Amino acid sequence: MKKIITYGTFDLFHKGHYNILKRAKEHGDYLIVGVTGENYDIGRGKLNVYDSLATRIENVQKTGFADEIIVEEYLGQKISDIIKYDIDTFVIGDDWKGKFDHLSRYCDMVYLERTKGISSTKIRNETFNQYDIGIIFDYPYDNDLIKEAKMVNGFEVKNIFCEDEKILDAFKVKYDVENTFDTYDSMIEASDIIFVRCAIKDRVKYIRQALTAGKHVIYDSPATFNSDELKELFALAKENNVILMENIKMVHIYVFDQLLWMTQAGLIGDILSFNCSISKNDSNRSNLFYELSTSSLLPMLKIMGFDYEKADIQVNKDGEEIEFASMNFVYAKGRAIINVGDKIRVDNQLEIIGTKGTIRMKADWWRCKSFELHTPGSNDVQLFNTNFEGNGFKYLIKAMSTMLDNKRITKKSITEEELIKITEILEHVNETSM
Ligand code: CTP
Repeated sequence: MKKIITYGTFDLFHKGHYNILKRAKEHGDYLIVGVTGENYDIGRGKLNVYDSLATRIENVQKTGFADEIIVEEYLGQKISDIIKYDIDTFVIGDDWKGKFDHLSRYCDMVYLERTKGISSTKIRNETFNQYDIGIIFDYPYDNDLIKEAKMVNGFEVKNIFCEDEKILDAFKVKYDVENTFDTYDSMIEASDIIFVRCAIKDRVKYIRQALTAGKHVIYDSPATFNSDELKELFALAKENNVILMENIKMVHIYVFDQLLWMTQAGLIGDILSFNCSISKNDSNRSNLFYELSTSSLLPMLKIMGFDYEKADIQVNKDGEEIEFASMNFVYAKGRAIINVGDKIRVDNQLEIIGTKGTIRMKADWWRCKSFELHTPGSNDVQLFNTNFEGNGFKYLIKAMSTMLDNKRITKKSITEEELIKITEILEHVNETSM
């Protein structure tokens, strides 16, 4: 019996998929089809898949060509599968020509001609809503968000606006964005989603204007130092039935959920200490201190809770700007210490000590690519990680896309209460520093 294997995502099942399965089956007696798993696709940054895994499997099954369907869950699984199922021939479309030649040491390789004029990507582009993003900024760097946004179905940064014409022109040339605008209002009108990336003092004004015009908004964090202003913005978003999202990427990355699971489900016991340090060197960004503080305070509030008994904040300033702050929070059963350096460098790390284990994240911990779990009495260190490329902005856009598809605004990953509490703490920091 000749055994054949082929793989694919088989999203929005089309004629090209049918044809390749038919021809793959004709190459042998028994056909195994590997369908990519959701986590595998998310991990490798393929965020444009529309159908669920169950639907994609069902569609492959309906063709009647597959004798067995398996799920492809990790990079390198193809080698394990060929060995495990004792495969004779690996079949794939010729869009992959040459990419799988290394498998010819395990079995025969056959690249079949693709069916012309059809692909899942083409169907997606023709079927789904397009969302044009407009960015308002005051410095000429995009932090890769233009590239990242494109990875999600239907999303693209098409419009830009900056009060400073020189910066606007430099940005347009550098990132090749389609449209520039003379006024913020005209950019709002041309866009579905506005991304506010400017000095904190201007953020509320720009956010308010976009929300009032009925547009969804993403903004660099924090929106403001004033919790009443933030509440007003949330109310305005609700009134206009639009999404207001803070640009905090870590909560959209699944390693962060694993971290929450470990700490909130008691897997490392009672939490005794939450300790984190953060600093970044980016002279282009003003008020970076507050953004770094937000990234640190959010996991603290999620893991330690809101009801600390005392907050002790020490601030060092360089002229008007905060260059370092140490924030100490005393909880009934534990303590949180957050050290944030803007111009002062600190070693980036996050450590959570529980009665049954310690979690450590190193270097750019806020990117949430990995953490270590140390268990007392054991030399083993368990590593939890994900291997995505880029800064994770695509996952935030994906979360927004899901809300838009579902026509439901869900605030479960970051709640309004958390953002308001963070703003209150920042207010406290500012008062201390006066
Ligand atoms: N395929 C094909 N002819 C097409 C489209 C796909 O023969 N017109 C083949 C691919 O070469 C692959 C299998 O079908 O062997 C599954 O491809 P998949 O990547 O799931 O489909 P695409 O339509 O190529 O998806 P996308 O546009 O997302 O890349």
